[in-house]
Amino acid sequence: MSIQSEMSLTSASSILQAAQTLKAGGLVAFPTETVYGLGANAEDVKALSRLYAVKGRPTDHPVIVHVARADQLSDWAVDIPDMAYQLANAFWPGPLTLILKRSARVPDEVTGGQDTVGIRVPSHPIALALLQAFGGGVAAPSANRFGRLSPTSALHVREDLGEDVNCILDGGACQVGVESTIVAFRAGQPVILRPGMITAEQIESVLSHGEAPADSATETTAAEPASTVSRAPGTLASHYAPRTPVELLSADELALQMKQVTASGESVGLIAFQGHSVPETVIYREMPIEPQAYAQRLYAELRALDALQLSRIFVQQVPEVGAWLAVYDRLNRAAFKA
Ligand code: TXA
Ligand code: MG
Repeated sequence: MSIQSEMSLTSASSILQAAQTLKAGGLVAFPTETVYGLGANAEDVKALSRLYAVKGRPTDHPVIVHVARADQLSDWAVDIPDMAYQLANAFWPGPLTLILKRSARVPDEVTGGQDTVGIRVPSHPIALALLQAFGGGVAAPSANRFGRLSPTSALHVREDLGEDVNCILDGGACQVGVESTIVAFRAGQPVILRPGMITAEQIESVLSHGEAPADSATETTAAEPASTVSRAPGTLASHYAPRTPVELLSADELALQMKQVTASGESVGLIAFQGHSVPETVIYREMPIEPQAYAQRLYAELRALDALQLSRIFVQQVPEVGAWLAVYDRLNRAAFKA
């Protein structure tokens, strides 16, 4: 296995080599703007079966096909609704996955036997260069073992997958930090299957105005319709979980817990906004109040605390609106108890 150093990040030869590895049936971990992906040739059934084995993932769990350009959509999907093209035009390359009816090109191994396929054009320059050099579709789940936290650095990938991956391209820390927003179309309506940093409001804005939204979070004025994008939160399965138990707390509960920890001397982790006073036995990670900056750091902070053998990780609850929804969703999964 080779880890490309920061110095050779943009080296065309390491990317060409990784594309060759994919063509030869190998597995390549690569950076995307959301999280690192573990890639295999989406048309190579043998490579896909190795991908599932390395992930430790049930074979009926579908993976996303990554392509270099939106005009490749029609290679992988059929009966593509106009709305899908509008969203692709507005948000690709970027952290959005579209669920569409699969074309004959898509093997069962990619879709878990379903008649739909997830497709995404990522925006990380190394991901785009790899996809361009490879030419076809790259099936890639997040590059972690099944059920664990998604990796947001090359080091995380190496810790998780070690020698089981042929090559890891290092693109530094992921800028978005949580997985893409997944949108399906049901009865002609968009449905968010997984919230991400592209919000329901942004999607709604594109579909109702036929144009890309402004960079900043969308403003809702009285004249604008309320969001009609359905949210299908899915099951709050124990996914994205650290090994240390995670407990979500309101600000009041947090203050109470800090008092108790002061008395007990328990070693705990705390992920919270600024301004809490904590005893010495608490490892306190102060988080940004802005959802994009928070999301970017979240998995790295959880991983770092998880490595410290603490008895618990407390996390201050975040708002359940707009771009915070993606963070809210991941925190609730991390805290899920079966
Ligand atoms: O940001 C991301 O989406 C990252 C990067 C690597 O692109 N990928 C990622 O993949 O998060 P993964 O496999 O960890 O999560 C993909 C999710 C799964 O929850 C899967 O169920 C859903 O996408 N998915 C894939 N294909 C689907 C389909 N045809 N229908 C419904 N859900 C699908
Ligand atoms: Mg994943």
